[in-house]
Amino acid sequence: MARHRSQPRIYVALDAAEEGRVRELLSTLDPSLCGIKIGKEAFTAHGPRAVEWARQCGFPVFLDLKFHDIPNTVAQACRAAADLDVALVNVHASGGRRMLEAARDAIGGTGDAPALIAVTVLTSMEDSDLAEVGVTDGAEAQVGRLARLAADVGLDGVVCSAREAASMRALFPGETGLVVTPGVRPAGSARDDQRRVVTPADALANGATSLVIGRPITAAADPGRALEAIVAEL
Ligand code: C5P
Repeated sequence: MARHRSQPRIYVALDAAEEGRVRELLSTLDPSLCGIKIGKEAFTAHGPRAVEWARQCGFPVFLDLKFHDIPNTVAQACRAAADLDVALVNVHASGGRRMLEAARDAIGGTGDAPALIAVTVLTSMEDSDLAEVGVTDGAEAQVGRLARLAADVGLDGVVCSAREAASMRALFPGETGLVVTPGVRPAGSARDDQRRVVTPADALANGATSLVIGRPITAAADPGRALEAIVAEL
């Protein structure tokens, strides 16, 4: 897609479902330094209100609902997401070409439309999990296949590990290409349940265009300061 909203360098993952906690986090972060990723926990608990809370505070929003359904349903979900005035929306590339085309057409390509990116293979899946669902040539091959499909359909980018960022950036190059990477940990911070982590600076050097960072910011004693420190490190 040629045109879409510009993206913040950092999306803070608001994985909390409790309203008071969500609002407290929003009030401590500086919207000039980051966007907010709203995922299934917060959206299932609060619906579009969670997006409104973040938008009212001035944050760009990444609505991380990973749509995967028949083309018509995904198209309507994407249109509803665009109506929420979010900056970034995602779908599962494994929904196939027609689903991706329907999502792309529903979002549209105007300057204030959200960008649309694809999830390839969930990082929770190993080769043995994929084999069980019929993908027998491994995660790496499947990630490449699905990312090429997303690029071919004209999506704006992918969500991927920072370790895959360089090869993904080659598929989604230039100012409009998006490589959005979670699993980022500032040097010296807790890895939590993430296993394959990289530092924010390394992720950007590898080709990531936006970083998704959760607990290093949200679980810090002072989330606003933690965000500022990461921005300073970049
Ligand atoms: O707290 P943490 O920085 O690990 O949060 C990362 C965020 O990115 C979470 O919302 C998590 O669900 C999401 N994510 C991830 N790894 C992926 C895809 C998404 O950690 N491969």
